Amino acid sequence: MLKGLRIRMARGRDIPGLLTFFIRLDRDLYARKFYRAYRCDGLNVLLSLLSLTYALLICNNLRHYLGRFYIFVVLWYRGSCAGVCHISVRKQENRLVGSYGIAIDRAFRGRGLGLMISRYALLLARKLGVERVYLRVDTDNSRAIKLYRSLGFRVCGRTREFRYFTDSYVDQLVMKLELTAECGRKNHSS
Ligand SMILES: CC(C)(COP(=O)(O)OP(=O)(O)OC[C@H]1O[C@@H](n2cnc3c(N)ncnc32)[C@H](O)[C@@H]1OP(=O)(O)O)[C@@H](O)C(=O)NCCC(=O)NCCS
Repeated sequence: MLKGLRIRMARGRDIPGLLTFFIRLDRDLYARKFYRAYRCDGLNVLLSLLSLTYALLICNNLRHYLGRFYIFVVLWYRGSCAGVCHISVRKQENRLVGSYGIAIDRAFRGRGLGLMISRYALLLARKLGVERVYLRVDTDNSRAIKLYRSLGFRVCGRTREFRYFTDSYVDQLVMKLELTAECGRKNHSS
């Protein structure tokens, strides 16, 4: 565990740090796929700014945005953002359902931080009353899939997604986690 590491909900004053984090991520292939960015750098920056605007809305406690809740958790290490995890929440047949996303700075991967920040965000989601969380992940993103399985996510479908970035279709797994069960348990079989 890194000394000086902090995990918490995003705040308004995090915006400059988040901006540099998202710009750094845009140079990363998986992150580009994750945020469905386009080849053009100007657009990448624009998408980053849109993400930040979204973050700003949450930071200002505008928790209802287009009828959705939004959980945006940040990981800080020595004044810079080392990762983010977000869960957008919507109502589906009178139940709260979340869509999950995560990105950890390349320099901080493989140290258990993905697991840590995810558990924190999932705990907040459960406290909000979210019963089920979904995500989509590329079939070749083995590191992310391993993380999701550790958290208790199970494969519940498969899709093909067109990517402007690669000009091709990418196979994706749809995974879900029931939050009524204890999340973050290890050694689940799928
Ligand atoms: C996916 C991602 C969030 C994982 O974060 P992380 O901090 O590296 O993950 P952790 O260190 O918590 O490791 C999680 C699991 O992956 C395993 N892992 C670590 N490095 C790995 C690697 N290179 N290959 C495969 N598995 C790996 C760990 O052993 C751990 O499994 P365990 O709990 O069974 O030991 C991070 O790699 C990332 O930000 N990637 C780019 C963005 C992205 O792909 N987001 C997901 C889109 S769906």
